[in-house]
Amino acid sequence: MKPRMSVKICGVSFKNPVIAASGTFGFGREYAEYVDLNMLGGIAVKGLTLLPRKGNPPPRIAETSSGILNSVGLQNPGVDYFIEHELPKLLKYDTRIIVNINGNTIDEYCRIAEKLRDVPIHFLELNISCPNVKQGGVAFGTHPDVVYDITRSVKAHAKQPVLVKLTPNVTDIKEIAIAAEKAGGDGISLINTVLGMAIDAKKRRPVLANIVGGLSGPAIKPIALRMVWEVAQVVSIPIIGMGGITTGEDVVEFLLAGATAVGVGTANLISPTACIDIVNQLEEYMVQNGIEDVNELIGGLEIKSFC
Ligand code: SIN
Repeated sequence: MKPRMSVKICGVSFKNPVIAASGTFGFGREYAEYVDLNMLGGIAVKGLTLLPRKGNPPPRIAETSSGILNSVGLQNPGVDYFIEHELPKLLKYDTRIIVNINGNTIDEYCRIAEKLRDVPIHFLELNISCPNVKQGGVAFGTHPDVVYDITRSVKAHAKQPVLVKLTPNVTDIKEIAIAAEKAGGDGISLINTVLGMAIDAKKRRPVLANIVGGLSGPAIKPIALRMVWEVAQVVSIPIIGMGGITTGEDVVEFLLAGATAVGVGTANLISPTACIDIVNQLEEYMVQNGIEDVNELIGGLEIKSFC
């Protein structure tokens, strides 16, 4: 018998727990000739701002051991273009749509949420964790009071449930997650990238024009798992876990740590079929291990004494 793969987040049903993570899957159409987008649990689109942005100057990608550094700087066509030109194409597919929103100020985030109020998307992802911009982004996501204020403000303008996307670049992820929940956040996405740097020893120069960037890929998976697990202990809203997922078994680990669904990011840049491969591997794992319903895995980590 086929195992049950569907999960629910804030009352919204996902056909499976695998979501293409924002910034690694464009607006979906870029991948449509390689994969059937209908097979994805959801798609989180590239981060949008009120106005189009060109992003940071190149080079803005650097390969590292088991990961990549990026300093894209939120290049995107702006929320109006998305609504008019990208969303209609995405709506042809039977998958959940998560719109990642960004701003220089709290007011900008609220104005984007307003523009998206009557648009048929399923979730907003409040990105307060981009490490590559001078204003907004991670600057909002590192102080519990600011996380509280921005989440509360955006909630007042949003119609769709709001997932607050957290940065790992903090001392205590738990207090940040608690602030997001207290402010009315409907769910939490974590983790965004880990601040890092690459140096070209021959040229004695930083590799990225922005000098520093965000590290993603398998190198950060243990950090992400730890943070998902910590946050799951202190909030009762759902968690979308992400950070270095490349296999179905990685998904199992994140679900056991307490995530209800997962984001797959850097793996899409290695293979355009990564998300679908991961869905198939997850199903295979469940069959092999006699798991009838994927929900059985959520929060199922067994902490026993090792003595
Ligand atoms: C970027 O566009 O710089 C990456 C987005 C992010 O890290 O949130």
